[in-house]
Amino acid sequence: MKQIHVNLGKDSYDIQIEKGLLDHVGAALRKVIQARTLAVISDDTVDGLYGGRLERSLQENGFTVRRMVFPAGESSKSLRMLANLYQGMADAGLTRSDAVITFGGGVTGDLGGFAAATYLRGIPFIQIPTTIIAQVDSSVGGKVAVDLPSGKNQAGSFYQPKAVFIDPELLQTLPIRFIHDGMGEVIKYGCIRDRSLFELLETVDDNSLPAYWEEIIGRCCAIKAAIVERDVFDLGERMILNFGHTIGHAVERYYSYGCYTHGEGVAVGMAMLTCRTEAMGLTQIGTAERIIRLLKRYSLPAAVRASASDLLPYIGHDKKKRGSRLTFIILKKIGVCELLPVAGEDIPHYIRKREFI
Ligand SMILES: NC(=O)c1ccc[n+]([C@@H]2O[C@H](COP(=O)([O-])OP(=O)(O)OC[C@H]3O[C@@H](n4cnc5c(N)ncnc54)[C@H](O)[C@@H]3O)[C@@H](O)[C@H]2O)c1
Repeated sequence: MKQIHVNLGKDSYDIQIEKGLLDHVGAALRKVIQARTLAVISDDTVDGLYGGRLERSLQENGFTVRRMVFPAGESSKSLRMLANLYQGMADAGLTRSDAVITFGGGVTGDLGGFAAATYLRGIPFIQIPTTIIAQVDSSVGGKVAVDLPSGKNQAGSFYQPKAVFIDPELLQTLPIRFIHDGMGEVIKYGCIRDRSLFELLETVDDNSLPAYWEEIIGRCCAIKAAIVERDVFDLGERMILNFGHTIGHAVERYYSYGCYTHGEGVAVGMAMLTCRTEAMGLTQIGTAERIIRLLKRYSLPAAVRASASDLLPYIGHDKKKRGSRLTFIILKKIGVCELLPVAGEDIPHYIRKREFI
């Protein structure tokens, strides 16, 4: 069992990581909150797989459970689904001394967390993440949101959970494409802050990963917690978590979100940018090749067919105007990153394709 404390003053909380935690999470939760009724929010896939087990563990510890289930998928991170949740919480008679549990991937955490942040001006919530993205990233740090027709995560807030309970065994049922998607973010952590995590990933593969989940998730959560502690509202250092994301988002958008997952976009972004910064002498020689080899190990792409000029219109959205600046996160070497402000007219130099990818 691993425990990581996120020190945010009165909003501090613990992340507990343990194989098999699901079956005794009710007892762990009792130590954190005294709520009577819990609204357990999950999508239909996670509820079908694990909803009964979670409910049993919570009931055994004296909680009254109301399961609220929505259709799986990003399209549920919507105002319409948010309204459904508010109604369900009202129907369940939830008060501010009760609590919400978000049980699922990043969609569930973001949607359910925003419902908790705003229902009755905020009721306590607990994250039980079930995908890699959620276990290493979205459940920690308090960003909660829904999408608007005009863009992703456009209505949201910062609202910290009371606790995060992570059971890596739940990843056993996660489809392989979502495993690889999550590995894009895991590799990113190694790149920006943890050379030994990167080296560990170079020795592991799809088959041996499950034996290392606790270790890998723990390291990622520790990195994210430390960054969030210093920059909770994403005004400075937290930006380094966006390594690979500027180009990655452009890849996702260029292909209309239908072709590449988020992690695949980030993978392409990390590789493409590092090839360029290496060529410019900003990154230690050999870094890009190592990243590309590691991405391939987890079936992640390091390049796309789209040309740099195809991607350019999707880079930085509002920041692409001539003369405006965009901050790239670049690597000096594996495990060490820095912020690099780039003038608008220089951005194309950082997204040129390289033949050897
Ligand atoms: N708040 C943040 O800081 C933050 C950070 C990163 C990503 N996000 C958000 O997270 C979302 C993506 O997260 P995601 O990839 O977890 O998506 P997701 O929640 O849609 O989960 C992906 C799929 O996996 C299924 N699933 C979940 N757990 C499973 C399990 N254990 N076994 C089998 N299937 C399972 C789900 O039903 C879903 O179909 C995006 O909306 C993104 O914006 C938020």
